[in-house]
Amino acid sequence: MKNIPRKELKVSAIENGTVIDHIPSENVFQVVKMLNLKNIGSQITVGINLESKKFGKKGILKVSDIYFEIEEINKIALVAPSATLIEIKDYEVISKKNISIPNEIMKFVKCFNPNCITNHENITTKFNVIKEEGEEVKLHCTYCDKITKKENITFI
Ligand code: CTP
Ligand code: ZN
Repeated sequence: MKNIPRKELKVSAIENGTVIDHIPSENVFQVVKMLNLKNIGSQITVGINLESKKFGKKGILKVSDIYFEIEEINKIALVAPSATLIEIKDYEVISKKNISIPNEIMKFVKCFNPNCITNHENITTKFNVIKEEGEEVKLHCTYCDKITKKENITFI
């Protein structure tokens, strides 16, 4: 049998816009949701299970012609703490930033307390993020004061 060379598929370079690199593959669609990319008219390319030296397998999102504020991107830190925000102009990388967990999380996360008003009425959840040295982040609900631990976080 002939050994047919396999073509490697890569997500092509973009001319202008934003690359969000090193997203855990399983969380790419959550990131799409968090950044509301569904409603962006510009060209978006998605890569999932791409080979990465650092992460084994990674996901990547490329959004042409759009630049985000780092604060806007930081909200994905709960699902993609390893992500990098890269800005491209004229095909060149002009900046690379690591994301960090914001002090406040709105929407997307459900309060762990079944009695919390946000689980019974149509209210947007809001949490203060508690970061303590050497500990996993915890979310303090501003409505019921209860704490949701990292391992109990579920996304809306
Ligand atoms: N990229 C892109 N379009 C360009 C230039 C870069 O989509 N015109 C993407 C690359 O595909 C890569 C990311 O932006 O995913 C960062 O580019 P670069 O710094 O050149 O890649 P690496 O050196 O591989 O970065 P790292 O080691 O941080 O993964
Ligand atoms: Zn609550």
